Amino acid sequence: MTQREAKDLIDLETELSLRIVPAGQAAWDSTKLKATAHTKASRNSEMDLSPSDLGDGLSSESQSEEETCPDKELVAAIMKRRAPPPLITTAVWEQYYFADCEIKIKESTEFYGAVVWPSALVLCHFLETNQDKYNLADKNLIEIGAGTGLVSIVTSILGARVVSTDMPEVLGNLRYNLTRNTRDRCRHEPVVKELTWGVDLEEKFPRSSTHFHYIMAADVVYSHPFLEELLATFDHLCEDNTVIFWTMRFRFDKENKFVDRFQTLFDLELIYDLPSMKIKLYKAMRRRKVGTETNRVE
Ligand SMILES: C[S@@+](CC[C@H](N)C(=O)[O-])C[C@H]1O[C@@H](n2cnc3c(N)ncnc32)[C@H](O)[C@@H]1O
Repeated sequence: MTQREAKDLIDLETELSLRIVPAGQAAWDSTKLKATAHTKASRNSEMDLSPSDLGDGLSSESQSEEETCPDKELVAAIMKRRAPPPLITTAVWEQYYFADCEIKIKESTEFYGAVVWPSALVLCHFLETNQDKYNLADKNLIEIGAGTGLVSIVTSILGARVVSTDMPEVLGNLRYNLTRNTRDRCRHEPVVKELTWGVDLEEKFPRSSTHFHYIMAADVVYSHPFLEELLATFDHLCEDNTVIFWTMRFRFDKENKFVDRFQTLFDLELIYDLPSMKIKLYKAMRRRKVGTETNRVE
């Protein structure tokens, strides 16, 4: 492993252990995070956030920080969706509030797909607060890289016909969370299906019979070797009128390059830019034919 790869891995592991920390809070400071990443005791002390810290999503940092934090209010609203964890607990649940529902997510730390990532919260918040513009009722929707399933759960509660997909090893937990949180709450029960990016796409999702109004993707671009397969998957699933909502946490250079690659096939519109979380939410549609105007995002 190169030094650069090792650094990338440490950054990602650190984010995994401290993945949901309100904007403006010191733990977003990567220097501090790196210093605490590998000592369990110090990591635990970083993680013991008081309920009030999580309650409004903001720390009592200085006025100047508030002034330099243009996404403060939006991030605070997003972070309120997560219930503060009890200080002493053996619970395996993470609790969230969306669409007037309490959602309990079972996590584990074995895979990246086994915890809820902040990008998922950002996407769910956007979808719930923009239902007038993007009404999901009775729409066909697929989520790729669904992980623990928060986005699939919220979109099911909002009325969509959801196909929730991921790699085989996370499907058991995904299915459990979807069943636990959607039963008797949804018009359409979500379906869980294996979708390993780039693999057997036509066999599993034949173009002739697969029509999605929406594709959802939260935090699927990071330091993994399947970015071309991911792009091929978007390409396969996306028809001319399909809308992609994609939240992305920017960690490494690779991500910027993927955005460029993505824009060779899709028009991209930036919807949220949350610098304090390093997350962007994009809306994308298949690129219009040559000669028509495009919305290139820099
Ligand atoms: C960082 S997690 C995000 C999970 C979830 N969307 C969220 O935001 O909480 C990335 C997800 O992509 C999935 N994934 C990674 N590589 C994949 C691949 N080659 N094919 C399908 N899914 C993959 C992982 O299993 C995981 O669920």
